[in-house]
Amino acid sequence: MVTWFDTIDSTNSEAFRRLETLPSGAVLAAREQTAGRGQRGNSWFSEPGKNLCFSIVLKYGPDGLPALSASHAVWLNYLCSLAVARFLRSFGVLCRIKWPNDVYVGKRKICGILIENQLASEGLAASVLGIGININQREFAQLANATSLALATDKEYDVELCLKQFLGFFEELLPQLFEKASRQLLFDDYSRELFRKGEKAAYYDVLREEEFEGVIQGVEADGRLCILDAAGERRYYHFKEVSYIL
Ligand code: BTN
Repeated sequence: MVTWFDTIDSTNSEAFRRLETLPSGAVLAAREQTAGRGQRGNSWFSEPGKNLCFSIVLKYGPDGLPALSASHAVWLNYLCSLAVARFLRSFGVLCRIKWPNDVYVGKRKICGILIENQLASEGLAASVLGIGININQREFAQLANATSLALATDKEYDVELCLKQFLGFFEELLPQLFEKASRQLLFDDYSRELFRKGEKAAYYDVLREEEFEGVIQGVEADGRLCILDAAGERRYYHFKEVSYIL
């Protein structure tokens, strides 16, 4: 069930306001967001009518999906970013997943994902998967490193149709979350698609307050990123503890 809004502050905020009544699998999409939210408290800017801005509601438990423990919440990153990567690849776009869940074409960001969870005592009660994919926008005034499907392919797209196509990939991957062996496959696919994996590149270590050069080795089972630095030390990072120098 997809509900389209002409204008809304943020589809994630709206999903939380309606969480009690929305069924699992509900999708809220907006042609315009007036207060789109990004990671780390940032805003998400998107030219009205040009791009995909939507939130998928997942509910766990008796009336929804099988249970998901809080420690498995990182898998939602793998699920969403892989679905976006497959969607983009269906248009011939070569993309990579920048840990934990941005999607890049070359050095430019084409998609951002904001996952917000509601916790219950026994695990996750619900998740709101907020996804912004740049589709037809060609100019990004203040965003120097943004790109879009139109820029990557030099074509224009029907945004509503794009959402349907994306949801096809998402729905195909979703059941993999709830079974151990298929979850591993999801993780393997995600790991294979990691941006900069195996390449020497520059990073900023937030805790040590230093820039360093290293090579991404992969992602640990708990979701931490592992980077091997020039001195041979393996450094492990939770989200926000490291940034990429692009
Ligand atoms: C980021 O990269 O910082 C995450 C951006 C997430 C943007 C999407 S657009 C739809 C949903 N509603 C929001 O307010 N944010 C997410």
